[in-house]
Amino acid sequence: MLSGKCVVLGVTGGIAAYKACEIVSRLKKLHANVRVVMTEHACRFVAPLSFETLSGNQVYVSQFDHNWEIEHISLAKSADVMVVAPATANFIGKLANGIADDLISTTAMAMTAPIMIAPAMNTAMWKNPATQQNIRTLIDRGVRMVGPESGFLACGDTDVGRMSEPVKIVEEITALLTRVKDLEGKTVMVTAGPTREMLDPVRFLSNRSTGKMGYAIAEAARDRGARVTLVSGPVDLAPVPGVEMVGIQSTLDLYEQVTTRAKTTDIVIQAAAPADFRPESVSSVKIKKTGDDMTLHMVPNPDIAAQLGRDKHEGQILVAFAAETNDVLENAQKKLLKKNADMIVANDVTMPGAGFAGSTNCVTLITRDSMDSLPLMSKRDVADAILDRVIAISEGK
Ligand SMILES: Cc1cc2nc3c(=O)[nH]c(=O)nc-3n(C[C@H](O)[C@H](O)[C@H](O)COP(=O)(O)O)c2cc1C
Repeated sequence: MLSGKCVVLGVTGGIAAYKACEIVSRLKKLHANVRVVMTEHACRFVAPLSFETLSGNQVYVSQFDHNWEIEHISLAKSADVMVVAPATANFIGKLANGIADDLISTTAMAMTAPIMIAPAMNTAMWKNPATQQNIRTLIDRGVRMVGPESGFLACGDTDVGRMSEPVKIVEEITALLTRVKDLEGKTVMVTAGPTREMLDPVRFLSNRSTGKMGYAIAEAARDRGARVTLVSGPVDLAPVPGVEMVGIQSTLDLYEQVTTRAKTTDIVIQAAAPADFRPESVSSVKIKKTGDDMTLHMVPNPDIAAQLGRDKHEGQILVAFAAETNDVLENAQKKLLKKNADMIVANDVTMPGAGFAGSTNCVTLITRDSMDSLPLMSKRDVADAILDRVIAISEGK
């Protein structure tokens, strides 16, 4: 699968360095050319000989023991991707701050191919504000992250900081190197997450959307070559690298952003969960308890999907979600026509494994002339299935 592809694998000085051997072995089984670079500290954990034997290539450690080649430039030029696994807090700090004082950091600086890192460290080191800020900087610059995961750590704690398993890292590398760029030249806007309808400065009405589905779609569209804007309500997810992020709070904010941006967007996928109603007025001070009950008067929010349907321009594709608890398909079909959409992604949010919060979903894709019920899948796979269908619609299939 990866024949003809070169992976430059950076190994830094963490306890998970031994797991990098398995990454090399798995990549070799997929016929990748693997060139390993190690820090001096990594060599304290695993001997270069292990990587040399597994990769069948020389292992690089020092910048200054080369012959005629300038190692960091030749490594960077040969790479289809640079993967650093494990990535120590130290390496992450250096990469985020443009420090190039050893072969790995200098190679990363010279890299024009994508960079992927698999952080691995003690929980306190991971949660340290310096590390978190460095991670945000790297994500903003388009560096891809795999993990870290929660689990048992070498220091004896069970918490976040564990390096993702080699099998997962290799899956991410494979996906990155084998992706079809079938959305190249297209602009895609995705909406994600809940909205907050404020009652007073400290209270709001919201819903259970976590944004995971929309974030997965934005990531998939980016990987398929589209220029992506993600308009997101408040969620607990990291920004998607390489995607323009637009933060919103209320449904009115979402309406404003989406209707303006849709004018220059080829494909709009509405996975956010806006509120149909908002409180008629927002109190400027905290509402005090004055009696045994309270009546809230709500007014309708603008219908974003319907407005997009009215404004739809030639060749634009509109996709809306229908999260339903009953009569799922019937309601979704009605929505398709009412909102002038090209596709409705319908899901029964009461089904186990579907809808909010989880990392799986079970959906039916409804267009004017088709209805495909997909099995339970990861949200990322659902995202790709939606985009496959969008491309088919745009090609008139
Ligand atoms: C036994 C041991 C285990 C370590 N494990 C980690 C680790 O998992 N993650 C990390 O960021 N640092 C870890 N460190 C600290 C790094 O080795 C240290 O920050 C070092 O300077 C990293 O250098 P490098 O990034 O150039 O490889 C460990 C140190 C020791 C002695």
